[in-house]
Formats: sequence, C-alpha cells, structure tokens
Amino acid sequence: MQPLAERLKQLSPEELVQLTSGANFWQSAALPNHQIPSFRMSDGPNGLRYQAGEGDALGINDSVISTCFPTASAVACTWDPELVTKMGQAIGLEARSLNVDMVLGPGINIKRNPLCGRNFEYFSEDPYLAGMIGAAWIKGVQSEGAAACLKHFAGNNQENDRLLSDSLIDATALHENYLEAFRIAVQTAQPEGVMCSYNKINGTYSSDNAYLLTDVLRHQWGFKGAVVTDWGALNDKVASINAGGDLEMPSSHNMFDQEALAALKDGQLKSAALLRAAENVVRIAEKHRPEFKGDRQDLLSQNGQLAQTIEENAAVLLKNDDQILPIDPAKKILVVGQMAAETRYQGAGSSHINPPVQTSILQGLTNAKIAYDYQQGYAFSDENSGQLTNAAVQAVKNAETVVIVVGLPESAESEGFDRQTMQLPANQNALIERLAAVNPNLIVLLVAGAPVELPWRSKVRGLLNLYLGGQLVGDAAAHLLTGQVNPSGKLAESYPIAYQDVPSADIYDKNPRSAAYAESVYVGYRYYDKANQPVAFPFGFGLSYTTFKLSGLKISQHQIQAGQSIEVAVTLENTGKRDGAEVVAVYVGNSPKRPLKPLKELKGFKKVYLKAGQSKLVTIDLPAQAFSEWDEQQQTWQLPAVDKFVTVNLGSDQEALSTPVNVAGQALSTKDVPEWYVTPIEKPNLNDFTEMSGLKIQPPMTIQPGQYTRLSTPRELSAHSMIIRKIASVLKNSQSKGISDPNSPEAKFMDAIIMDTPLIRLAQQSDGKLSLGMVDRLVALANRHYLKLIWGQH
Ligand code: BGC
Repeated sequence: MQPLAERLKQLSPEELVQLTSGANFWQSAALPNHQIPSFRMSDGPNGLRYQAGEGDALGINDSVISTCFPTASAVACTWDPELVTKMGQAIGLEARSLNVDMVLGPGINIKRNPLCGRNFEYFSEDPYLAGMIGAAWIKGVQSEGAAACLKHFAGNNQENDRLLSDSLIDATALHENYLEAFRIAVQTAQPEGVMCSYNKINGTYSSDNAYLLTDVLRHQWGFKGAVVTDWGALNDKVASINAGGDLEMPSSHNMFDQEALAALKDGQLKSAALLRAAENVVRIAEKHRPEFKGDRQDLLSQNGQLAQTIEENAAVLLKNDDQILPIDPAKKILVVGQMAAETRYQGAGSSHINPPVQTSILQGLTNAKIAYDYQQGYAFSDENSGQLTNAAVQAVKNAETVVIVVGLPESAESEGFDRQTMQLPANQNALIERLAAVNPNLIVLLVAGAPVELPWRSKVRGLLNLYLGGQLVGDAAAHLLTGQVNPSGKLAESYPIAYQDVPSADIYDKNPRSAAYAESVYVGYRYYDKANQPVAFPFGFGLSYTTFKLSGLKISQHQIQAGQSIEVAVTLENTGKRDGAEVVAVYVGNSPKRPLKPLKELKGFKKVYLKAGQSKLVTIDLPAQAFSEWDEQQQTWQLPAVDKFVTVNLGSDQEALSTPVNVAGQALSTKDVPEWYVTPIEKPNLNDFTEMSGLKIQPPMTIQPGQYTRLSTPRELSAHSMIIRKIASVLKNSQSKGISDPNSPEAKFMDAIIMDTPLIRLAQQSDGKLSLGMVDRLVALANRHYLKLIWGQH
C-alpha cells in the first residue's frame, strides 16, 4: 500500500473534511470507498464506559458492565506507577474486549482549587506526580493495543461555566504548573490522542489555540498523535484545523464542513493543515489493534481484584493516635453512618461506570467476618437527623471501638458543576462532635473524591481517607481496618484547614469569563509552604501501621550542568513490627527570596516495600530537567545559574533531609514582580496579577438584549426573556428523560449542561435537533431583533 500521506492526497476536499468530523457520538468517520475505517472511542478514566446504545457525555444512558476502579484522586495516592500501569493494562484489555480503539483518559488537570467538581477525576495538585501517574496509566492502556487520549488540554480547572470560561494564566504558572503534567505524560508515554478542553486559555479557545496545539504540544514536546476536541468543544473548525486540531467530536452533523470547504477554497484553511488532520485521524483508525481472545467474565473478575488492590494501596491513614488501628478482627465493633451502608465508590458524569459488583463498607466487614452493630447516625436526604444522631449517641456510649463513616453525598461531586462548599453536610459534622463527647475511641472513615474541612479532626483517634475507592471499596476498607493490609497511600493533594486558606478562595468561580489565576505558581503546597499557612494534612502525608526512618542522604554531585543528572541516595529502614510500604519523596528547593519560585517542588519519588526490620538503600535520579525553569523569552526550559537544594522526606515523617546543589546554568532574565509573588502571604490581588503577567482581566459582565450572540448561554438569554426561559425548560425536560431524582448529580449536571452551555455548543451536541438557524432565531428573539427572527440571521 502507498504511504498514508500519498493516499490522502487522492481524496477530495469533501472527504478530507469529513475525516476531521466525527461520524456519531463515539466514532470517527470511515470512508469505505477508500478502505478507510473509523475508530471507536469510550470514556475513561476509572474504567470503561462503553455505550452500546444511545451515547451521552453525562453518564446517564446505560453502559456495558465494566470494572469500576478507584477514581483518579485515589489512584494518585498510591504513588505507585507500576500499579497504575496494571490498571491501564486492565482498562486497555476491557477496551479491546469491546473493540474500543481509544480510551478517553487519563485526566491530568491540576487541582487548582478543592471545589472543582471534577477533582475526583484528576490526580494531583502537583504536576510531577500527576504527569508520572498519568504516563504510567497511558503506558498500560497502550501496551494492550488500545490508544489513550490525554485530557483536558489545558487550563480546565473548574467545572462551572467550563464552556465559556477564559483561564488567564501567566507564562511561568502555565508551563511550570498547568502544562507540566501534560508535558511529562506526552514525552514519557506518547499517548495516541490529546483531548483539547472546553475553555479558553488567555483569550483563545483550546480548540483554536495554535500556541498550545502546535507550538507547545507538537513542536516543543514532539507529540505525534491526534488532537480530539472534548465533546462539543470545537469553537471554529477552520481556526482549529489551522491551529493543530484534528478531530471534532462528537458529530455535529457536519455543521461546519461547508464553512471549512469554502475556507479551503479561499485559502483561509491551509490545505497542509487539513491533510495533517486527516492523516492523524486515519493513522489511529488504521492502526492494527489486537483482538481480545480471552474470556470477558474472567477478565472482569481479575480486574475487580486489581481494583481492590489499588484501593488498598491508595487509602491514606491520616491519624492513628494511641495505635487505635488496626482493630482486633475478633472483637465486635459499632459502625455509624449511612455512608457505611451506601458507600459511594465513584463520581458522576462521563466517567460513570456500571460495575458487575459493588461492596459497601458494611458488606466488606461481613465478607471479612467482622462482627458489628450498625447505627445510621444521619440521613443524606435529611439535614435534620436528630433522632438518628440521638440513637447513635446512646449506642456509642457503650461501645469499645466505633467506626464512623462520613463523606460527600452523591449530589455534591460531579462533572459539570463545582462544589459550593468545602464542608461535609452539617448533620455529619454534628454527629462526630456529639459522639466524640461521649466516647474517645472514634475511628473515622472518609469517603469523598476531594478534600473536605475536618473541624473535628483533633477529637477522633483514627482517620482513614478512602477517597472514592472503586467497586470493592468495602472489602478494601475491611482489610485496612484490621491490618490485613497495611495502609501505604500518601496524599496527592493538601488538605487545607478551611476553604478560606486556599490561595484562590476569593477569586475561584467569581468571574469565569475572565478567570484570573492570580495565585500563579502558588497552588497547593507550593502556596501553603511559602505562605507558612498551616494545613490539616500536607501533600505527601500518610501514616502506616509500622514506622520508617530515613537516614544518610547522599547525592552523587553537588553541581549540575545541562545533560547531567544527580543520583540521590538515602537509607530507608522499617523500624516497626509490621511489613509495609513507604514513599520516599525527593524535592528540589529554592531560596525563599526567589520570585515565582516555590520553596520546594516534587521532582522524584519511589514507593518502597520493606519487611519489618528491613532496611534498603533507595536511589532516585534527578535529571537536569528537575533543576530547570521555564524561560518565556526563549520559549524553552533552561537551567538557571542559582543555588538550589535537594530535600527528601517520607510520607509518614515529614522531617526532611536536605543538601545543597549549585546549578551551573544561564543567568535567566528576571523581571520585577509585586512582592506577593516573592512571598505569598494572604491572598493575591488582581492588580498585582495584571502587573506581573501582563494579562488584562475583564470585569464580570451582564449581557443585555442587543448583545447576545451564538456564544451566549440559555441562562444568560433567559435573564431578560420569559419565552426563552420556557424554551430552555422544555429543552431541559426533553433531555432529562431517565433522570427521576431532581436532586441527583445527573439532574444538576443536566441543568448546568443546558443552561450554561453556549447555544452554538448545544447545537453541536444536539444530534441535529438544534440547527444553527434555530440558534440564530433564539439569539434574535433574545436581542429583540424581530425582523431577523422572521427572516433568519443570514
Ligand atoms: C467530558 C470528557 C468526556 C466526553 C465524552 C465530556 O463532557 O468532558 O471528559 O471524555 O464528555 O463523554
């Protein structure tokens, strides 16, 4: 056969454009006359959401049974790339067992703020950890012959208004924080796909962003795969293909194809760009992918076990005063909390999985033959759980060991909208306070995909964070509680004491159309460390039932130049009585006086399993990149000429060992920045941000009749028009078939998806039901342009 590029030159412009437009909800277009097949995509990322019937991006319609792994925020807490590669392999095999070619994952956006509704689907606040875990996942999926599609590129750190928000990020934060996880994943694992996000970055939609899609992704990082739009994220087909976008998903019923063909004729759409896009799509479709020959049932049961093992390695032991844990499995315990009986194990939205089995915590205890009494304690559906709480207080008075299970209800955490508060439901906090007053022997199990405030943490003896632990979370919890498994998870994000402590607390979700990332690089521990802001539990933290000691830090050289690397060696000893695993974390640190530089940043880690009493020399390599910094002028990473240091600590013991390193690089140009960017005390301010970044922030706007466009949302249009309010509610109802509970995350997601999606994006995803003509009429109606309404816009 001729090379692909040659074959594509024989296609008509119509056919080439067709290849860049999805054929339906999940497939690219095929051209049977040219023997060009299509390829099939499915979500991602904590299992396979394969929809055999009608497709949707909300997780509402049925999907075929598949393994539900712990969600990304738990997976990252394993700090174990090898284990994560196994998870990727398992998902890759499930994909191949259903002839899926590309899995839409992993999601590696940085957790900028704990309230982002999709944080459960992301790995970390730290780009190195997120990048390495993401790369491991991609390697696993792709080693089984399925493609991975890394998402959501880039700057998609909030869910509210995600289709219209503009993330304003200064160059240092963009490259060193928000793009860095993507860079690591792309360069380490070469995913076949990258999904561009819904939002704008510094004024340009991701789908049209030539800087991100071409200069950075392809030229700087060497990405060789296809850029796929998030579902309905294409802004302008011509701009997108010119900018480096390849495939528009899902099908918009070829809404923009004619426009693209006209642009091709008059030279606005570059033919080389169109050929590149078509080639990138066809390469994925034509790639030989192995057929799954095994037994799907066996695969699901093996993968179920793996999902449990991952959760057992992910759960983070945050407190264990007086060694209240592990519990004696022979003694009866009292379990309190509705979450114990109805344990959440995944989040809502496009990652929603339909698992073959699922164990609650109570079921897990029963499976492990642990005797227990149960008190509901609170009700998800009723803020006022007085009677349930009273009954629990009575029971707890006489109990020796009490396990309380609390967490976020289903409706709190979902794709499509952000959490409104970092607090747990008030009835759960009140329950713990009441129980703590009558019995000190409380162990709390926490079930939530993201940090919550833990105001009672000093009043309980044990605290085990399960995150959203996948289908067998109950069995994993029982093994962890009894010590059959020794906890080894470490936090992949900081747990602030209160929401107000978060650097972006005052600005997050306040002005989405111009969302200033005013805290810049000071996200998560990069802020808490330098601002000297205490946290409830720091990044990297996690206890064990054994103890570890770190000693004898040595580095191979105290000076580094381009092309070199430094070997860091430490001795790790398991000084306790149980076998267990610990994470050795290596950071590179900076002088506190350096502007836009955190005190330390994670640059290497290793999870090490040691028998009781065993010790081991642990070595971790730090390449020159670990000491490099983004140089905006030269558009590249450079080794600076400064003194840095290497610092090493453990998950269970945050006391660090440090040693200096002289970086023999170039004198990088520095500019004067406002003092906050040297020492970030309290909150950043927007004027300082503009001065530092040069980025202009638009004031929040209320759109008036006369100003509406295709990019306005039904919520904006409804503000001034009864009729549009009515139309929006009809639209919502027609889409909400199958959602019975108006408070469910699906119902809230649907509300956000309809009301806060620009009209043109709704049309793109409407499967042809909402045409561009109808969009223009709605806009005319809202603008009170009644003539246009009658004759149409064009
Ligand atoms: C999500 C993506 C997902 C896609 C397909 C979108 O709404 O943002 O992460 O892969 O839907 O379901």
